[in-house]
Amino acid sequence: MSGPGGPAVVPGTVRIFDTTLRDGEQAPGAGLTAAEKLEVARQLARLRVDVIEAGFPAASPGDFEAVQRIARETKGGIAVAALARCRDGDPQRAVEAIRVAERPHLHVFIATSDIHLVHKLRLSRDQALAEAVRWVRYGRSALGPDVEVEFSAEDASRTDPDFLLQVYEAVVEAGASTVNIPDTVGYAIPAEFGALVRRVVQRLGSAATVSVHCHNDLGLATANTLAAVQAGARQVEVTINGLGERAGNASLEEVVMALRTRPTQFPELASQVQTEQITAASRLVSYLTGFTVQPNKAVVGGNAFAHESGIHQDGVIKNPLTYEIMTPQSVGLSGSQLTIGKLSGRRGLQGKLRALGHVVEGAALDDLYRQVVALADVKKEVTDADLLALVEQRAAAGPASIRLEGWSVTSSHGGRATGTVSLRVGEKARNAEATGNGPVDALYGAVDAAVDAVLGWRPVLTEYEIRAVSGGEDAQGQAVVRCRRSTDEADNPLTVTGQGLSTNIIEASLEAYLVATNKLQVGRGTSEGIGAASRGSLEELP
Ligand code: KIV
Ligand code: ZN
Repeated sequence: MSGPGGPAVVPGTVRIFDTTLRDGEQAPGAGLTAAEKLEVARQLARLRVDVIEAGFPAASPGDFEAVQRIARETKGGIAVAALARCRDGDPQRAVEAIRVAERPHLHVFIATSDIHLVHKLRLSRDQALAEAVRWVRYGRSALGPDVEVEFSAEDASRTDPDFLLQVYEAVVEAGASTVNIPDTVGYAIPAEFGALVRRVVQRLGSAATVSVHCHNDLGLATANTLAAVQAGARQVEVTINGLGERAGNASLEEVVMALRTRPTQFPELASQVQTEQITAASRLVSYLTGFTVQPNKAVVGGNAFAHESGIHQDGVIKNPLTYEIMTPQSVGLSGSQLTIGKLSGRRGLQGKLRALGHVVEGAALDDLYRQVVALADVKKEVTDADLLALVEQRAAAGPASIRLEGWSVTSSHGGRATGTVSLRVGEKARNAEATGNGPVDALYGAVDAAVDAVLGWRPVLTEYEIRAVSGGEDAQGQAVVRCRRSTDEADNPLTVTGQGLSTNIIEASLEAYLVATNKLQVGRGTSEGIGAASRGSLEELP
């Protein structure tokens, strides 16, 4: 069959559609501020994905603004997608948000499985089909003939296949240039999913690009995605670190490296991804969301290129190919440990950062250099991990109207700790004291009191974690906290992540708390504020 619109499908490529900022951000607790989303989008651009799904503009004003900013900034042929339900208001907001993009990509969806239609949407199949056609047609006429209009049949893998094909044919007739087959609940098994994809590809021919979107509930998201590519899918929807709803989505790094590492299994298919940027992307997303990557995670886990047993080490020394199917360098690990220090100079630091996937210049480089020199004063060796943590800490810290001017704490075995802080909140200076179960608890209590006295709300700590950035007794501590405001309604709180970094873990903990408090102060619905983090009450999120 032939469809009426959309850019031509480029033969021989698999389009990498990254949905870290939309489906990934739907992972509970992974909410990002607009500034953080922009930071991730910039890294996705360096990674050279084909499409960045930037969010769900109808979800909140903050989400709308974040999508629009990313749409405005992203250049170099990378498309920016926005998601919309097939429901009056959503597609219009999405079109408004992405219209400014160099390459807009509208993504509309409606559920098609009987279980969703009967119990969630309370629509008949005919009604769902009519809505799908209506909003695809709207998208095509609003955006013109050359823009991608994608339609997703939510819960496709549990939809009656004949009805699914009927829907896809109808939306392609109405102007969809891509049809997406989501395995929304991670239910499919690779051979079965591949067969479904093959049927859709055969039915649609060259009228539309066939895309897949696999969730990981059975740990099969990557396997299903690859089976789909072998069956003819030419767009894959993936996220960095496999972040996403529940058990997450197919992970970008696994899918891309499988395509790259096994070319004979995917003949003449390539992606344009700059794989050397994968590690930087993984670390950034992990850092900003506070979601640690498990050590044995494929491609980006801390142990992915570590060899413990003597037999393996012996083999790798003789020839890395004995136990490594891809090189650490190919995913952006430098493979060597850093000896950056006071004597390395700015140029050496800049070169090392470039090798680690970060371009830092001008005043930012000077600032970072000062931090590295200060760190080298208190730490024997400044490692790659230390450097990356410093770069990421800079990216994470937004505008600060609440600043720490001093602190002290006393704590002893068996007793309560007493902490005092001096804060500047806007123009006002405020000292406060509090007691707590330990030094961090006491200092957080003091911050709460000072913030409350000036602003009328206090941060509420919901999660706290401290990790060592690298090995050794002088390792830097990285504190990660999640907080909400005391005044938010319990069922729809604004939750933010704060990060702190220091060789003194109390200092790191305080810094993390202050970063989070500043994000809460900026608030939701503003350009620096929260995107999707506040959308908990929206019905029928995919
Ligand atoms: O999982 C899902 O079905 C989705 C769609 C909106 C693509 O996220
Ligand atoms: Zn999804």
